[in-house]
Amino acid sequence: MRILLAYDSLSGNTKLVADEITAELRTLGHDVTDFRVAGDANYPLDESYDLYILGAWTVDYGRTPPDMKDFIYELGKPSHVALFGTGETQWGVENFCGAVDRMQKFFGTTYPTLKIEQMPHTEKDRQAIKKYVQQVLDKRSETL
Ligand SMILES: Cc1cc2nc3c(=O)[nH]c(=O)nc-3n(C[C@H](O)[C@H](O)[C@H](O)COP(=O)(O)O)c2cc1C
Repeated sequence: MRILLAYDSLSGNTKLVADEITAELRTLGHDVTDFRVAGDANYPLDESYDLYILGAWTVDYGRTPPDMKDFIYELGKPSHVALFGTGETQWGVENFCGAVDRMQKFFGTTYPTLKIEQMPHTEKDRQAIKKYVQQVLDKRSETL
């Protein structure tokens, strides 16, 4: 499958998760175009992908960071979008990874989501990432 994986990461936590997801997808034989979103980038959005995976950190009490919002504006609303993110419960459990919830609502997607506290560093996190990848791929396969 051709997959676009775009992520926003300020201090590197979300990048670590994105890299693990990308590595897992490539191990499973998928063709992944991955990049970090940035204000002035020229995104490879001319072609379409079979699946879009977007990841972001969360800012300002549950909000989506501005660079990811800008990217989503350029992306539009493709059919198959899965979300993931990192955050910190110290910002309030109700705001934890709020960007994931907001993006999910925006896209109206029912793909599984993944939320990691700060950076992935335990075996449990690694397993959660693998499980997320498999669940997303399984859901995409249902419509092929
Ligand atoms: C100004 C600011 C606001 C934040 N607000 C939230 C928040 O509302 N909810 C949350 O889960 N995390 C919040 N965080 C924590 C970050 O989302 C978290 O550290 C994340 O893992 C950072 O990802 P990154 O390293 O990819 O940038 C906030 C961090 C900063 C700096």
